[in-house]
Amino acid sequence: MSNGDSDQWNPDQYMKGAMGDLRTRPAVDLLNRVMHDAPRRAVDLGCGPGNSTRLLRARWPGAKICGVDNSPAMLAKASAADAAIDWQLGDIADWQPAEGADIIFANASLHWVPDHAGLFSRLARALPSGGVLAVQMPNNFAAPSHALIAEVASQPPFQEALAGKLLGDFVQPPAFYHGLLRGLSGQVDVWETEYLQSLTGEDPVLEWVRGTALLPVQENLSDADFGRFTELYRARLRQAYPMASDGITVFPFRRMFISFTAD
Ligand SMILES: C[S@@+](CC[C@H](N)C(=O)[O-])C[C@H]1O[C@@H](n2cnc3c(N)ncnc32)[C@H](O)[C@@H]1O
Repeated sequence: MSNGDSDQWNPDQYMKGAMGDLRTRPAVDLLNRVMHDAPRRAVDLGCGPGNSTRLLRARWPGAKICGVDNSPAMLAKASAADAAIDWQLGDIADWQPAEGADIIFANASLHWVPDHAGLFSRLARALPSGGVLAVQMPNNFAAPSHALIAEVASQPPFQEALAGKLLGDFVQPPAFYHGLLRGLSGQVDVWETEYLQSLTGEDPVLEWVRGTALLPVQENLSDADFGRFTELYRARLRQAYPMASDGITVFPFRRMFISFTAD
């Protein structure tokens, strides 16, 4: 998604209510699998509002911690919460690590960036010996939350404006990353987890995707068309994710984890 003047990210929507914890949980699970005692520098690519970056700082207080993002709105939120971290405006697609970047961490960000063969090879090859590339991405694009976006987007009058613009097109199957990184010099670990997320409130899945997967839809439609799109999508979501009698809407979310430790 292009950013800068057309920055669609809204850090408050992204972290709203219980969603903040649910979105940060996979970063905790990923970090728990990173075996490095004393990195000189740890970089959080696509740091967003800094929720994942602060985990790196708590884990390695002696390291230089850097957060990189191309959303000015996200970086403003991140830097307001912690001025001690080095926050950088930059695009992951052409980002180059500074010397001593022993940890390259990316929670829920690389699925927004194209060319995963080139991107993952470049990041993994940039690591010093013992350095770790640790990535989590949603692998939920066949679930109704995302498939229904594609379904509504394929209909007139949205079809033309949204062709090729939806989130998820860049993500490959787990075996792709395992095979690609196995070909480099290092240890590879790839796994998936499905979180049965308990959401509350009216239309909670819509609220969830408003912070992420609906952003490219919003960016490419007029306000009026986005309003129409949202109503069609909302009706489908209510059928796919009914609220239970205890007020909980269960939103299963599958995520893929990748770690590569350089020899
Ligand atoms: C879903 S948020 C993840 C935030 C945080 N890492 C977390 O764990 O919740 C994705 C972030 O990636 C950023 N992003 C997406 N594409 C990017 C790119 N090409 N370069 C830099 N940042 C990017 C977005 O601006 C957004 O802040």
